[in-house]
Amino acid sequence: MSEIAIVKDLKHKRNGTIEPSALALNNPRLEAIREYWNAHIHDLAIAKHPVGTKGFFVDLDDYRFDKLRYLPHVVDFNGYRGKKILEIGCGIGIDLIRFAKGGAHVTGVDLAQQSIQLAKKNFELNGLKADLRPMNGEALEFADNSFDMVYAHGVLQYTADAGKMAKEMRRVLKPGGKAIAMVYNRLSWLNALSKVMKVELEHEDAPVLKKYSIGEFKKMLSPFSTIRIVPERFPVASRLQQGWKAAAFNRIFVPAFNLIPRFIVRPLGWHIMAFCKK
Ligand SMILES: C[S@@+](CC[C@H](N)C(=O)[O-])C[C@H]1O[C@@H](n2cnc3c(N)ncnc32)[C@H](O)[C@@H]1O
Repeated sequence: MSEIAIVKDLKHKRNGTIEPSALALNNPRLEAIREYWNAHIHDLAIAKHPVGTKGFFVDLDDYRFDKLRYLPHVVDFNGYRGKKILEIGCGIGIDLIRFAKGGAHVTGVDLAQQSIQLAKKNFELNGLKADLRPMNGEALEFADNSFDMVYAHGVLQYTADAGKMAKEMRRVLKPGGKAIAMVYNRLSWLNALSKVMKVELEHEDAPVLKKYSIGEFKKMLSPFSTIRIVPERFPVASRLQQGWKAAAFNRIFVPAFNLIPRFIVRPLGWHIMAFCKK
């Protein structure tokens, strides 16, 4: 089923509406971002099961952790037992569920109310608790020094003012708390390949999609006391793309690229992961 068909399916199941959000943004750019993410579930095209079912969440979790196989190696999902975690831009809650399964007390916010509705369903199906709310990550409704860790994976690059969101991440962290964030690397193998092969990147039609150099990302995070950068996300065979370009990518590019020692290509990773301390 195409992404558009599934979104229609999702609306149909809810009597033709997505619940209106009480969240007033008073910012046309943020409103456009919210509208876009209410109509586009990240990685939806890969789902084989109907939206909101157990199978749907399993499909998206499988796909995410196949594509991002680096993630559990650099993020300790089980390392926050008893700690308070906030995820900004939690989407349907795939990563947040992992932190919750590891014993963390989790809060998830997202601009898109559709994401929050699905994240609630995901937690309910897993028998797990979370505080999930539609909220703008650039103006968090939490007191200063509230969380032990704040996580934003693939979110800063899609918001209107990423610097503002980064400052909010730091503000709500307890002293000594950790922030983990990921943005896309402009100087990366995937950005170069998409231009050479004239293949659009996912969500290139979003109202905001910015790519950063490592230096620019560090500058955005400069309010933190320490910043450790780890470029990740190297080529893995694509399950989403079809046709000769996908075949060439899967059969030639991926194996050839992965022969190059990682320490040489490390700076060209598509995801710039940042581990920061307040
Ligand atoms: C590419 S999706 C990533 C979702 C999830 N973090 C993941 O990795 O699967 C980007 C998400 O960021 C959210 N987002 C963008 N701007 C936001 C903002 N200002 N506040 C909260 N969420 C935001 C979108 O609604 C969307 O769910």
